[in-house]
Amino acid sequence: APSPASFNGIPLLAQLPQLPQLPGTDTKRAPLDSFKIAIAQHVNQTLGIDVEKAIEGVGPGKVGDFTVAVPRFRLPGKPNDLAEKAAKEFQPNEWLEAVENKGAFLHYTLNSETLKKITLQTIHVMTHGFGAPRNDEGKPLPSYGSNRNGEGKRIIVEFSSPNIAKPFHAGHLRSTIIGAYLANLYRANAWEVKKVNYLGDWGKQFGLLAVGWKLFGDDKKLEEDAVNHLFEVYVKVNQLASEEGKGEKIHDEARAYFKGMEDGDEECLGYWRKFRELSIKKYIEVYDRLNIQFDVYSGESQVTKANLEKAMSQLRETDFVSREENGALLADLTKYKLEKCVIERKDGTPLYITRDIAEAAQRWEAFGGFDKMIYVVASQQDLHLGQFFKVLELMGYPWAQKEAGKLVHVNFGMILGMSTRRGTVVFLDHILDETADKMHDVMRANAEKYAQVEDPERTADIVGMTAVKIQDMSGKRINNYNFDWSRMLSFEGDTGPYLQYNHVRLCSVERKVKDADGLELPTESLDFESIKTELITEPKARELVLLLASWPDVVKTACKDHQPSTVVTYCFRLTHLVSSCWEFLLVKGQERDLALARLWLFRCCKDVLGSALKLLTITPLERM
Ligand code: ARG
Repeated sequence: APSPASFNGIPLLAQLPQLPQLPGTDTKRAPLDSFKIAIAQHVNQTLGIDVEKAIEGVGPGKVGDFTVAVPRFRLPGKPNDLAEKAAKEFQPNEWLEAVENKGAFLHYTLNSETLKKITLQTIHVMTHGFGAPRNDEGKPLPSYGSNRNGEGKRIIVEFSSPNIAKPFHAGHLRSTIIGAYLANLYRANAWEVKKVNYLGDWGKQFGLLAVGWKLFGDDKKLEEDAVNHLFEVYVKVNQLASEEGKGEKIHDEARAYFKGMEDGDEECLGYWRKFRELSIKKYIEVYDRLNIQFDVYSGESQVTKANLEKAMSQLRETDFVSREENGALLADLTKYKLEKCVIERKDGTPLYITRDIAEAAQRWEAFGGFDKMIYVVASQQDLHLGQFFKVLELMGYPWAQKEAGKLVHVNFGMILGMSTRRGTVVFLDHILDETADKMHDVMRANAEKYAQVEDPERTADIVGMTAVKIQDMSGKRINNYNFDWSRMLSFEGDTGPYLQYNHVRLCSVERKVKDADGLELPTESLDFESIKTELITEPKARELVLLLASWPDVVKTACKDHQPSTVVTYCFRLTHLVSSCWEFLLVKGQERDLALARLWLFRCCKDVLGSALKLLTITPLERM
């Protein structure tokens, strides 16, 4: 069997006692898996439980590092006696230092030397090379924390999904932030991910917009900033359309126009196409600023007529759909506590929900199936999502059956009090501009530091984006939160700038030690054996190593709970712990071996914090 202590041929700790390989564990990537196996082995040897069963009982410990509750195995005899027996028969080895039994619980302490070595080596190897995946330039991608759980599985993550000519509101912002994070997260869990933006890019409003365009449109403005200009036009034409007398005529024109679009009239479609293309161009710019990209710009317009027809004719045959007296087609979902919903207007045209139904089936075809499809949409649309998932299920699609668990709605609460100095209608780019400006002011307040920042504009922008994202992802998704400029932009408290500050500080310790003591820690060719990790003896440092070692487990948990706060909370635990270590884990001016060992620990903290930030779609800064 391959030694669990080697990674792609690089011996990590060749001299360690061999461990059995267990399904669901990956000792190359998750340092704690080895220790869990060692514990399971001890439980197996002393209590006769299968190792594979035993490992399921190994959980985080309040007393030791890991705890096993003996009663869960339902063995004959008193659990307390069994625990005592197991503890008595314990022999320390290079994996486990000690076990203590308290009542029916077994509290294990991991061997500190092995813990330090294996954790730091795994982080180093996974981050800086050897077997790590590489980007286009051949640089290793930080991948400590990633796993192979989702290998061979495909997921579609639909998120952001703004409406053309309407404001990009807070709900779209949250969907964008959370969706991009989920896409990264699934990728870190080895899923093949497709990121889809489902634009609101079809409907009667485009008829109105075309009428408005002829009156108020400006080609130059459209080129520069389609999103804001189209909204301007839309507001003006709506005003006109609500005027007495004039209004009716405008509505008639708009209706005729949209009918032309529906019928495929090229002239009518021409405007719409231009509006759509230039809006997407502007969206791409703004998303880029947030470090977010999409694989597909889909949208309501992209649901084909044929697929809509197909869905409608299937639906007409089902027993939960019936024709109302007024001619509309109604799906009755009251049995499922999902009310009733119209799926076809009396004039035969489809609705928002009709398109979602047809689009889901269309995606299944276009992507050649999927193992999961996540919709990141505000909780205001819980009913809508519930309804169309249920309709798809009742239509009999195997992939839409509840038990299959493939269709997932990831919902979230509202942002309260988000407005800019320009007014109450908020546009994403205005929010981002204002964030960057305010961040810039905060940075300028420290003149000395500010003078050293190389590219203040860019730095302020990145720290500002970090602030917005961390504020959004700190709490449980479902909670509403207040958009609070001064709190989120502060360097103190659990904020985005605080995380960036900590990353920068971890980077600067290496620079300072190099300047002051000429000491450098190699990256690609680091000789692990030469670093004396036994010199790291402080209990807090051990706590830090244990926290670093748990990062791959956090990534797995995060993929199950779909809570960005799982990762954000980890970042704060890590940075708080690092902060509390600076005063006694000195590096500068220390004896060489000690300095190198500590430097390696801090390097690993930087690497893990960096990976966590990247997972959250945030670019970690090296200076600021
Ligand atoms: N464009 C919609 C809105 O702004 C959001 C779309 C959500 N996704 C979906 N498949 N319905 O409300």
